[in-house]
Amino acid sequence: MTLEEKARVAERAARAAGEMLERHGTFQIRRKAENDFVTEMDVKSEVMIREILLSACPEDDFYGEEGGGSEAAAGRWIVDPIDGTANFMRGQRLYAISIAYEQDGELVIGCVYCPGTDELFSAVRGRGATLNGKPIHVSNVARLRDAIVQVGLGHRNPEILRQTEPVFFDLVHAVSDIRRSGSAAYDLCSVADGRADAFLEQGIFLFDYAAGVVILREAGGRVDAWRPGMDPIATGSIMASNGLLNETIIAILNK
Ligand code: IPD
Repeated sequence: MTLEEKARVAERAARAAGEMLERHGTFQIRRKAENDFVTEMDVKSEVMIREILLSACPEDDFYGEEGGGSEAAAGRWIVDPIDGTANFMRGQRLYAISIAYEQDGELVIGCVYCPGTDELFSAVRGRGATLNGKPIHVSNVARLRDAIVQVGLGHRNPEILRQTEPVFFDLVHAVSDIRRSGSAAYDLCSVADGRADAFLEQGIFLFDYAAGVVILREAGGRVDAWRPGMDPIATGSIMASNGLLNETIIAILNK
């Protein structure tokens, strides 16, 4: 199966899960940690996505936020069945289904679906990125003072939160405005289609950012880590922008 064909399967799985999530009744919620939750719907969404992906692509491996799975493989799907669980469980409309495909260690397909806005972001490496089928591109905002910056604070990890706090205030003073969406997958897509100019968060997981990274890169953006020399994909330290702001923001993060 070609990568384009696999991308269509990912889109089908994301839309099917989104439809199911939008029709939910009451659901059970379990605490993974003090401020980290998983709902019954996260699990149902992952089961549904896994079933659709692996029945169409039985040759592939699977790794999901809720059920885990294969750590590395020739071909592996990386899935966050609800990115923005806290939003979803409180009825906020901004949550996403994130499906990436990794081939021989490289992220090559990204699909992020936001059921609350019916927006489907999709990309295959080397083929550009789309939103609901139409090509998208990052913004051309080059001055930090004009930039809208999506942020995550690493709120679940006290050490990361301590590192982020001072930087956060420096940043607020330097940019046009900041946003905190509650979904890293959405944040990356919002930079990809130019409604924001940069996104940064440390301590997030591969399933949160894998699909968004492919989409952002294919839309012309750039993903770095907070510290020079670090690999963003391996570490979950994400400093992403339209490609024009990375250096300026990295200087603030490391001053
Ligand atoms: C969370 C979201 C959020 C980020 C958290 C993630 P989840 O994903 O991406 O924006 O700040 O660190 O864990 O838990 O809702 O899948």
